[in-house]
Amino acid sequence: MASESEFVVVANRLPVDKVAGPNGTASWRRSPGGLVSAIAPVMRNRKGVWLGWAGVTDQKLDPFTEDGMDLVPIPQSANEVALFYEGFSNATLWPLYHDVIAPPVYKRTYWDAYVRVNRRFAEAAAEAAAPGALVWVQDYQLQLVPAMLRALRPDLRIGFFLHIPFPPLELFQQLPWRRQIIEGLLGADLVGFQQPGAAANFLRLARRHHGVRVQGSFAEVAGRTVRAHAFPISVDVNELADLVSRPKVWRRAGELRNDLGAPKIMLGVDRLDYTKGISQRLQAFGELLRDGDLKPGEAVFVQIATPSRERVEQYRLLRDEIEQQVGRINGEYASIGSPVIHYMHSSYDRDELTALYLAADVMVVTPLRDGMNLVAKEYVATRQDLHGALVLSEFAGAADELKQAYLVNPYDIDGLKLALLAALRADPAQQARRMRAMRRQVTTHDVDRWALEFLAALEE
Ligand code: ADP
Ligand code: G6P
Repeated sequence: MASESEFVVVANRLPVDKVAGPNGTASWRRSPGGLVSAIAPVMRNRKGVWLGWAGVTDQKLDPFTEDGMDLVPIPQSANEVALFYEGFSNATLWPLYHDVIAPPVYKRTYWDAYVRVNRRFAEAAAEAAAPGALVWVQDYQLQLVPAMLRALRPDLRIGFFLHIPFPPLELFQQLPWRRQIIEGLLGADLVGFQQPGAAANFLRLARRHHGVRVQGSFAEVAGRTVRAHAFPISVDVNELADLVSRPKVWRRAGELRNDLGAPKIMLGVDRLDYTKGISQRLQAFGELLRDGDLKPGEAVFVQIATPSRERVEQYRLLRDEIEQQVGRINGEYASIGSPVIHYMHSSYDRDELTALYLAADVMVVTPLRDGMNLVAKEYVATRQDLHGALVLSEFAGAADELKQAYLVNPYDIDGLKLALLAALRADPAQQARRMRAMRRQVTTHDVDRWALEFLAALEE
């Protein structure tokens, strides 16, 4: 691998996690989450290196190539994973940036680790980048990297993309280290967000707290210009089309329908995260059964929940809550051999996930807040047959583009119940009309276009 690259991606996660086999052999498994789903296809099509963490602690790993991508592991100690990753990233920033759905934890030890690990990433990027190279820093775990990297390597073009929402000033102000975070981001030439409102929130903060002059989407910072703009992320439409073209995947979808044995299948696919509104959708489904609007046997709910951040307290609580809720609803309405909710706490490969999308009559995506939500777009991208209905939260970035979905406020359980029923009962012609319009949007705005637009703006 070349020691210096013209294009460097820096993300907390590599696209693969190292997993130890039974006899000490190591293998690689796809990492969870939307960032990896979006950046991996972009990197496969470009020459460049990806710097990130391989999901293991206290191990210094050599650079390696996997699935056509050149990867450079950045180590984290067990203590750093506890303080930087589980702490500042996922117990402080994640809830703060998602409307404080859970209370953010503000701890100085978390912050110190955040600074330390961000510096490590910045130093590694400075070393990996060729003169004048383009460096693209990803997401909330690394918001200090742009300014740290600029200090080390003023010759670079530095882009930053935030995959999650950026909160309004009124919430962001809680953060004891708000000034440092804004300064970190202002180190980039281009700061990308999922939605225009997020870019506006950021510029408002920069003006208010940093005396930065802002004109339109540009901020003047110490003689430099920083642009903040929305670039809504998307999915790899070609990869999904390829999966849908496989007879094996359709056969599997048929098997799933058979095995589930109900006329209608509702599906949820998420990381097990409190932002995803899983409890709200299960409550709505349970109440439809309670009210007799749905009969057991008429529809089943399949909820796939990828294990996520399992050592963070809020995630542990959430798992208990969801599993109790599933147990309660099944206890009430299931019969032997026929649960009304099928709940799986596991991750699936792309073939199986696509088969599930193809088997589902109603895809239920109800986050309380979500930067984009790629699951919604994946569902649309796979439904070439124009079947199926999407129930989608207004609070997912994807709702800006997928206007023909059954849009819901997930906090409004009655509204959610009505939307689920409408989606279940829509006639095929109406479903096809909605799906065709959504597919037009997704297929013309895929992840490649997203990357091209961001990188073109960065190079301007
Ligand atoms: P987030 O980034 O918050 O996890 P997104 O919906 O944007 O949410 O992205 C989730 C990504 O993870 C999608 O590409 C989806 O296909 C994938 N995914 C979610 N749940 C599972 C699962 N149980 N097994 C495999 N992949 C999953
Ligand atoms: C979201 C975040 C990503 C993160 C992913 C999985 O997509 O935006 O930055 O990688 O969730 O979360 P994890 O904590 O497992 O990396």
